[in-house]
Amino acid sequence: MSIHSYQTALVTGASSGIGAACVRMLSRHDMRVTAMDRDSDRLAELASETGCEAIVMDIRQTEELYETFADRDIDVLVNNAGLAHGLAEGFLGTGNDQVDEMIGVNVTAAIHVLRAVLPSMITRKRGHIIAMGSIASLYPLGLPVYGASKGAIRSLSRHLRMELSGTKIRHTEICPGRTETGFFDTAFGDPQQRASFVSEIRLLDPADIADAIEYALRTPLHVNVSSIEITPVDQVPGGQILG
Ligand SMILES: NC(=O)c1ccc[n+]([C@@H]2O[C@H](COP(=O)([O-])OP(=O)(O)OC[C@H]3O[C@@H](n4cnc5c(N)ncnc54)[C@H](OP(=O)(O)O)[C@@H]3O)[C@@H](O)[C@H]2O)c1
Repeated sequence: MSIHSYQTALVTGASSGIGAACVRMLSRHDMRVTAMDRDSDRLAELASETGCEAIVMDIRQTEELYETFADRDIDVLVNNAGLAHGLAEGFLGTGNDQVDEMIGVNVTAAIHVLRAVLPSMITRKRGHIIAMGSIASLYPLGLPVYGASKGAIRSLSRHLRMELSGTKIRHTEICPGRTETGFFDTAFGDPQQRASFVSEIRLLDPADIADAIEYALRTPLHVNVSSIEITPVDQVPGGQILG
């Protein structure tokens, strides 16, 4: 069953975790889904499972990004590609190139994807943007660079909502807590530290995040769900700190 006659969707960071769950959810709603990521094998598997179109690209290839989406009409954008480094190593222990990669993918590329897709949405007065934030933008979890990158997404989302006023384009920022994906493979250099971190509590499944996005998409077109914060029941940042 389709959602608001949305026909097309683009998901970045689509080949694993939350992105792949979103491709599956959007495909179930009969959308023609374009799945973009840099891992060709994982994308090919997802394409044969869901029928999505696969685009293999490093999302930091800015010119190629604009060229690819110049003539495409995207109804739903899940601006999802992102990563963290140095969860155990901390601010100064994280490599310079890792800092650049976090900002380059989580912030710069996310902005360019939006700028590539938005003109057609504005012309058609139609579309729903899903920005992938994090609870790291809401609470101090001890992840300064990653938190800053997701703080930028939070700020971008709020400012963009102002600029989109009158266009009928909807915008939702999703702020997940710990979710069982490949994210922690990249975030932890040491597999043992990773294993003890992810087994500490029952994490969210990627499908839980896709369900939250599905909810925001399905609300009537006069409704804008601006932000969803979603965590495992046992992850409680704040009074009892569990980042
Ligand atoms: N998992 C969590 O606990 C959590 C919590 C809050 C927010 N988030 C956010 O959720 C989003 C999705 O992450 P996830 O948890 O689903 O992790 P994931 O399974 O690692 O998925 C992220 C995807 O983005 C891709 N990607 C990274 N850099 C890229 C680049 N330069 N070009 C193209 N694709 C690139 C990754 O490809 P490779 O595998 O090749 O790197 C991967 O397929 C991210 O924005 C993350 O910050 C995750």
